[in-house]
Amino acid sequence: MQLLPILLTTFPLLPLTVASPGCGHPLHPPPTPGASSSLLNLPSDHHSFPSRQYLLHLPANYHIYSPLPLIIAFHGKDQTAQEFERQSEFSKPLLNTLGALVAFPQGVGKMWTGDPEAPSRRERDDIGFAAALLDHLVNTYCIALERVYVVGFSNGGGLVDLLACDEGVSTRIAAAAIVSGAIYKDKSLKLEKGEKLFDVCRPRRVPVPVLEMHGSRDPVIHYDGKSTPDGETWPVEEWVQGWKVRNGCKEGEKPTWEGEVHGGSAKKRTWSCGVGAEKQEVLVHYTIEGFGHGWPSIKRQEDDEKQRFGPVSWNATRDIVDFFGSKSLPSEWRVPGKWVRDEL
Ligand SMILES: *[C@@H]1O[C@H](CO)[C@@H](O)[C@H](O)[C@H]1NC(C)=O
Repeated sequence: MQLLPILLTTFPLLPLTVASPGCGHPLHPPPTPGASSSLLNLPSDHHSFPSRQYLLHLPANYHIYSPLPLIIAFHGKDQTAQEFERQSEFSKPLLNTLGALVAFPQGVGKMWTGDPEAPSRRERDDIGFAAALLDHLVNTYCIALERVYVVGFSNGGGLVDLLACDEGVSTRIAAAAIVSGAIYKDKSLKLEKGEKLFDVCRPRRVPVPVLEMHGSRDPVIHYDGKSTPDGETWPVEEWVQGWKVRNGCKEGEKPTWEGEVHGGSAKKRTWSCGVGAEKQEVLVHYTIEGFGHGWPSIKRQEDDEKQRFGPVSWNATRDIVDFFGSKSLPSEWRVPGKWVRDEL
């Protein structure tokens, strides 16, 4: 174990992979690679997050010596991890073409930090929980440290925004994806005096490549933000503008690509900007025409169609996995076993 982490070359043409400290750890099933996911506990001994659970999918080709990508997928409010796994289908090999491990954490009271009903971070800190879960996963399983991704739906998407904005977590994730993100204005939340959530975003590493998809008729998190029923949210375009500038694009910079995708059902905009010589894709936004609040997919989702106004003719999961597939943490951040560099 002390010999790890070691540098492993996967294939000659692929970049170097940094094996996580969990590589080489014998697997004590469950979970069994390729079998259905298992609900597991975050060990309470070394973290301050007692009895927190997550559902884990191990792909069929999981092997303790070959690092694979990791996706951490955060459910929406009032959902369970199992429901979100069924809804998003990230565990399906057909859609999870990266062959990534997928962890679906379970929120306490089926919600996350950033929801108007969630307590303050001092009472329940889901940003800290997500970081602790990431520690636990990379120390237990064989993960390619440069290919860790976070994705979330609605309230889970709000948490993903907070993770991408977080000083520490931003240095550990290669990219973030959000569907129907619940990005509230801080004044809509129960915060302690001086506590800031969505109103402040200071990632330590930029760019953090971000993808967001939002239905133009979302009845839960309105596109304009102002008339959102549970409290004002960031207008989607304003939030996009924030990430554009934060990720190194100029204020007035036009998307490098703009057009309709999926037979015209979504307008997709891509911004490629760059610090340095190389421009890279740093922000992608889909405006899904006529779509409501839900996970865009071909599958019918019985309990959900009243607010989703779906199904659509495509699978968001596929687009998200493709987006993740082209992103990896730049080499200077790939520090095995140590996340935050001492200096920049
Ligand atoms: C979308 O996902 C469904 C599974 O729900 C699958 O049958 C279908 O082939 C997928 N389509 C695409 C275009 O990925």
